[in-house]
Amino acid sequence: MRAHPAGPRHADVLARVSTAGPRPAGAAELNVLHPAVWPRGAHRGDDGAVRLAGVEVGELAEAYGTPLFVVDEADFRARCAEHAAAFGAPHRVHYAAKAFLCTEVARWVAEQGLSLDVCTGTELALALHAGFPAARIAMHGNNKSADELIAAVTAGVGAVVLDSFLEIARLDDIARRHAVVQPVLIRATVGVEAHTHEFIATAHEDQKFGFSLAAGDAAEAVRRVLKSQGLRLMGLHSHIGSQIFDADGFELAAHRMVGLLASIRDEHGPQVASALAALDLGGGLGIAYTADDDPPRPATLAAHLLAVVEARCRSAGIPIPELVVEPGRAIAGPGTITLYEVGTIKEVTVAASTQRRYISVNGGMSDNVRTALYDATYDCRLVSRWSEAPAALSRVVGKHCESGDVVVRDCWLPDDLAPGDLLAVASTGAYCYSMSSRYNLLPRPAVVAVREGTHRLLLRRETMADLLSLEIS
Ligand SMILES: Cc1ncc(COP(=O)(O)O)c(C=O)c1O
Repeated sequence: MRAHPAGPRHADVLARVSTAGPRPAGAAELNVLHPAVWPRGAHRGDDGAVRLAGVEVGELAEAYGTPLFVVDEADFRARCAEHAAAFGAPHRVHYAAKAFLCTEVARWVAEQGLSLDVCTGTELALALHAGFPAARIAMHGNNKSADELIAAVTAGVGAVVLDSFLEIARLDDIARRHAVVQPVLIRATVGVEAHTHEFIATAHEDQKFGFSLAAGDAAEAVRRVLKSQGLRLMGLHSHIGSQIFDADGFELAAHRMVGLLASIRDEHGPQVASALAALDLGGGLGIAYTADDDPPRPATLAAHLLAVVEARCRSAGIPIPELVVEPGRAIAGPGTITLYEVGTIKEVTVAASTQRRYISVNGGMSDNVRTALYDATYDCRLVSRWSEAPAALSRVVGKHCESGDVVVRDCWLPDDLAPGDLLAVASTGAYCYSMSSRYNLLPRPAVVAVREGTHRLLLRRETMADLLSLEIS
């Protein structure tokens, strides 16, 4: 076992080379699964192995191999129900399919009574394949093709979220040709920069989504839709970013959107304004990736936003629209873990008397690109057994040919970690599988659901045969 240097000098060095925080006081701390970060059904048994919904992780690794996404179904469903209760009715909560979608998940969302937000023709096709009611689907996207719009119109989706002037004309034409009046929302960019990573903040002006409120494009989009014969304006939409902890951005967006509603009333009359029944404030509610994160609870955020919208509408003298939200991460993220097997372990000296341990696992940026892309942080634990060993400063890396292939940049893991141990990374249910790739021809992992002591496959692991099936020669 290595000796761990201690004292203030080492703490300074550590702060420079790591964001993992102070070394855990005792080995026991490393074995604790923080309840805000880990799926609700996760606990460590008396034998030291972690169980999810009563199923031991070793059993899952044995049955399905690793890397493996494990979804706690009860956790996913409970978060659907909590959002539905918070916003007053399940249909007002549109689960954002981009976070993670497969047939089974689409069915869970449908059974919980939620609506669904899709962004591509293929997300729409999968939802319809799962039997998701088309009337509860909203179709998003800044570059929907004519074929995608036709698919949405013919399926009878509840709303298309309009994103450009070109699309207004195109959808109007398609709807009229299909003898349909298509309900639509207009996506406005409200000039709010959410407190989040710059790559995923989307409501500032210089970006590809929506119609600018400040430049008057949103008002012009309203005029064009009202003049059209194939479109019915049913509401307004905005989305200010992702992984947001601070309600101020949502509040400001709500203020500005109600301001737009008031100006629509002034320009087009009260009847038009009262027909705009939906005010969709998008997704973006943050989750706890580590114990340091303290996101607002859906109920708290909902109560706050409902109060803001009500007060603002009352003072503007306009009817109060139905508040709609589109959470993806906050529903799918926390209930899933990724299981990896430890492979090679390497010690690297990173500063005077400070070593970092590189733990290579059998997946990486192909199953979780968020660390490389957004500098995301995660909580990672040894889950196949209990360890009494002291903590070693560690970096969990993948097996790809890329030095940026990092899964967890800085964390403390037991010093006695060995090849064959199982590690789990928490809160990987959103934007991990859905953003996965086949980089280095690594087949995508399987996804398994656990519930009340049972497990079943949602998506099987890709195989070499799957990869070869795309080859022509
Ligand atoms: C329009 C829209 N709605 C909803 C979401 C879901 O966001 P989140 O998963 O952060 O809740 C996104 C994410 O990019 C989005 O672009």
